[in-house]
Amino acid sequence: MKAVVITALGGPEVLQVQDMPEPVATSGHELVRVQAAGVNFADILAASGGYPGTPRPPLIAGREFCGPRQSDGVQVMGYTQWGAFAEIVVGRQSLLWPVPAKWSAEEGAAFPVNFFTAYFAYWKAGLLDTPGAKPGEGRSTRRVLIHAVAGGVGTAAVQIGKILGVEMYGTSSSDEKLDRAQHLGLQHGINYKQRDYAEAIRELTNGKGVDAVFEMLGGEHTAKSVGCLGNFGRLIAYGSATGQRGLVDAGSLYAKGASVHGLWLTYLSQNAALVQQAWQQLSLWIAQDRLRPVIGEVFPMEKAADAYRVLLNRKNFGKLILKIS
Ligand SMILES: NC(=O)c1ccc[n+]([C@@H]2O[C@H](COP(=O)([O-])OP(=O)(O)OC[C@H]3O[C@@H](n4cnc5c(N)ncnc54)[C@H](OP(=O)(O)O)[C@@H]3O)[C@@H](O)[C@H]2O)c1
Repeated sequence: MKAVVITALGGPEVLQVQDMPEPVATSGHELVRVQAAGVNFADILAASGGYPGTPRPPLIAGREFCGPRQSDGVQVMGYTQWGAFAEIVVGRQSLLWPVPAKWSAEEGAAFPVNFFTAYFAYWKAGLLDTPGAKPGEGRSTRRVLIHAVAGGVGTAAVQIGKILGVEMYGTSSSDEKLDRAQHLGLQHGINYKQRDYAEAIRELTNGKGVDAVFEMLGGEHTAKSVGCLGNFGRLIAYGSATGQRGLVDAGSLYAKGASVHGLWLTYLSQNAALVQQAWQQLSLWIAQDRLRPVIGEVFPMEKAADAYRVLLNRKNFGKLILKIS
């Protein structure tokens, strides 16, 4: 079968389409004929050697996919750690979900990482409890700051935040991307190239700060984002797109009673009950037509390196997809 292989540790140039042996399904697993696969920031880290737990090259890249399950032909979308950028992938049964009837294979491939991560971020932030609560209905509006709001996880977080009735503040490097995120339901776009986001949050919330920050930048942004929290706020740390780990002074949490929570889908996905619980809620919202993955661009698998470059250069809106077959 044809597959996009990480041939050595490095940048996008290490990716090559090669003939590889087909995988074999062991107990609890299924084979899927991949039609489309989602490109994630984590794929860039896996190729460069920065994603913990990834085997050394040569290795088939890709962590989410969509296509017919070989055993029964049902169209499924799935999550794995590697191996998705191939004509056939082996997926764990508990991490395969039926694709909603109205969705294309590209949309199915854009679902698992973005929506489960965004859902778990709201869960960790304690914002899932009263969906739709509005001011005057017993509690004040909850506020969330979403970094990279126009990206894959960001656009999923906006859709879920809209359902939950959360006031959303989102950062991006481009007005065009912010405009598009606003069409999805983002209320407050902050272009960090033009404006300091911590100052913007202070101004826009009248000094109150936000209840949660979804923080995937790392470096200086982790401490700076803690500064954006209001009383009892929670920072959800789930990435380091800057390439640097974020550091937080625990003392900066005392006065506000703030907290920092980690989030890693790789580990959460091993908890089948938790994943099932999340899917129950997500699939209900999908059935109500309230969630739909946002596709930025679709690339042929031979152009996987170009897709990685678009992500690295911050040019994507939503999810980038590889067309596999
Ligand atoms: N912990 C987990 O389980 C988990 C799961 C999924 C994703 N993540 C993390 O979440 C982040 C987003 O992932 P994604 O796949 O959805 O990517 P993405 O948000 O679609 O793309 C990355 C975006 O981050 C923004 N960005 C800000 N600083 C950047 C920098 N120094 N280099 C590159 N991009 C930068 C850019 O948007 P602007 O130009 O608009 O700022 C860029 O478009 C990544 O850090 C990823 O590792 C973690």
